[in-house]
Amino acid sequence: MLSIATAQTFQPNYEEANVGNYRLPEVLQTDKGKKITTSRKWEKSMRPKILAKFAEHVYGKFPGRTKDMHFTINSVDSTALGGKATRKQVTIFFTKAADSPSMDVLLYLPNQVKEPVPVFIGLNFYGNHSIQTDPGIQLSERWMNNNEPYKVVNNRATEGSRGAQASRWPVEEILARGYGLATAYYGDLEPDHTEGWKTGIRTTLQEELTIKPEEWGAISAWAWGLSRIMDYLETDKQVNAKQVAITGHSRIGKAALWAAANDQRFAMVISNDSGEGGTALARRNYGETLERINTSFPHWFVSKYKEYNTNVDQLPVDQHMLLALMAPRPLYVASAEDDQWADPRGEFLSAKHAEPVYELYGKKGLGTEQMPAIEQPVGEYIRYHIRTGKHDITLYDWQQFLTFADKHFKQVAKAINQ
Ligand code: GCU
Repeated sequence: MLSIATAQTFQPNYEEANVGNYRLPEVLQTDKGKKITTSRKWEKSMRPKILAKFAEHVYGKFPGRTKDMHFTINSVDSTALGGKATRKQVTIFFTKAADSPSMDVLLYLPNQVKEPVPVFIGLNFYGNHSIQTDPGIQLSERWMNNNEPYKVVNNRATEGSRGAQASRWPVEEILARGYGLATAYYGDLEPDHTEGWKTGIRTTLQEELTIKPEEWGAISAWAWGLSRIMDYLETDKQVNAKQVAITGHSRIGKAALWAAANDQRFAMVISNDSGEGGTALARRNYGETLERINTSFPHWFVSKYKEYNTNVDQLPVDQHMLLALMAPRPLYVASAEDDQWADPRGEFLSAKHAEPVYELYGKKGLGTEQMPAIEQPVGEYIRYHIRTGKHDITLYDWQQFLTFADKHFKQVAKAINQ
């Protein structure tokens, strides 16, 4: 996947002194230099323009749902996880054809809560069966990247793959705190390799969605799938669809941000270690760069993005503007100390520069100019932490997200105590 020349010659910069000077596009200034001073003007004119710029220059289009999309509930088990959870498995079919492209959604709901529950939603990297050892989860039969420790052989999961990524999905903790969890395998939408688009929805749904494969990238296709899960959640009476927090780690964190930018039904947004093309500022030369991501993962973005490989200053947007599109919804940005590739400081600064838009709504952001110390989360409507350890999503991360959700989705605690 990686061209040998790039792999050999690319030397990431990890010296703050060598980041260089850059000037970010103003999030509240129109192309003609006019200042946006009210949330109304932001919503009416500025927000749609920024969103359109991200579609044109970075991620590509974000279509609506297909006309014939429908859901099949495959199983409901209210005795899952030792009786703590109800496990639902739902297939979303995108067309009415017998061989319709589809995605398999796994939903866990906490049995101790009787009211509709708030839900965390996020795609997974290795199939729904990888998030828990629960034998009731259908084993994914899709293509996936080979992985020896995860027992993915010949690009297929095996029984030994169950729970392979359980450390990234603290299901019991999430349920115990009164939340549901919905997930699906990102490869159901598009296999993550340069040729993946040929078998993914960018090809199989091009007629239904009247869009050509090159008009969007893999990140946009994954993001689109997140919105389709939301479509299902809106029909599930056990879910409080007004309190759905979208989450994602790394490349899936980039997809989560793009989904939430387009789809404001997601009431809370969480990006974990999403780095370049996610929360990190593109203009900072630190860790992964725009050129490098386009070279290693050319299928993630639209081809126009590559035009900025060597002149990122010409990019009409930067990632703080993507974060500004989340306003006024609560936004959590998480980094890790040993994940310098993702540029933690660039992630913090991006969140910082999104603040003026939150201020238009009277919402406080990070409330500090300084990057906080390790494991000292800061901020109100925009919250940020950097934890110890590597590029990963850990229990520590989830505990912060849960506390953030408790604060903003207030009635949760009340419901559990009843
Ligand atoms: C690579 C890539 C990152 C991405 C990460 C991941 O490291 O360069 O941009 O976020 O993979 O998805 O884990």
